[in-house]
Amino acid sequence: MTAITIDGPSGAGKSTIAKKLANRLGYEYLDTGAMYRYITLYLINNKIDLTNKDLVCKLIQKNGTLKDEFKLLDSETNMDIRSKQVTRNVSLVSSYDCVRTFLVELQREISDNTDIVLDGRDIGSVVLPNAEFKFYLTASEQERARRRHLQYKDSSSDTYEEILKDIIRRDAYDMNREISPLVIPKNATIIDSTDLTIKETIDKMLGCILGENNAI
Ligand code: DC
Repeated sequence: MTAITIDGPSGAGKSTIAKKLANRLGYEYLDTGAMYRYITLYLINNKIDLTNKDLVCKLIQKNGTLKDEFKLLDSETNMDIRSKQVTRNVSLVSSYDCVRTFLVELQREISDNTDIVLDGRDIGSVVLPNAEFKFYLTASEQERARRRHLQYKDSSSDTYEEILKDIIRRDAYDMNREISPLVIPKNATIIDSTDLTIKETIDKMLGCILGENNAI
C-alpha cells in the first residue's frame, strides 16, 4: 500500500492537485483541511466560544459520532466549511492539541491499508512520516491570492487585497503554532508551482512517483 503526502501553505493548490493525482493513480484522496474545517463549523453551529479551549476539547472527546460524520460530508456541508466565518476561525481551532490528536489518529486509521493521497499541513511530518512519497507544494503569496480570488470570484465579494492579507495571516499562524507547525517534511520534494500549470505540477509529481518516462 502506498501513501503520498502533499503539504504546503494555504492556496498553493494542494487540494486540486491531490485530487487529480489520486484520480490518475486510482488512489483514495483525503482532504485533511476539510476535517479541521468541519470541526470548526460544528463548534460554530453549536455556538461554542472558540477561544475556550477546555470546552472545545471536552466537546470533541464527548461527541462519539463526530468520527462517523466525516464520512457523510455532503455537498451542502462542503460549501459551508469553505465559508468566510470558518476560514477565519479554523487556524485557531486547528492549533488545539486535543483537536490535532483526535484528527491525526483518524487520518492514520483512514490511511491504513489503502493506496491514498493526503493533503494538509503536517501529513509528511507528523501524520505519516514514513510515507513512500512526500511533497511540499508552495507558490508565492501573490500567486496564491490571485488563484483564490479567481476561484471564488463568483461566490464571494472578497477583493484580491483582502485574500492576500488573509493568506499572509494564515501562513504566519500555521507556521508559528506550537503543535505541528507547517514545516517542510524531512525528505520531501519541494515543488514551487508559481509558474507551473496544474498539469505541469502533476507531471512533476508523477515523474517522482513513477519515474520520468511515465510522467506524460
Ligand atoms: O487546506 P485548508 O485551507 O482547507 O485548511 C484549513 C486549515 O486547517 C488551515 O488554516 C490549517 C489547518 N490544517 C492543519 O492545521 N493541518 C492539516 N493537516 C490540514 C489543515
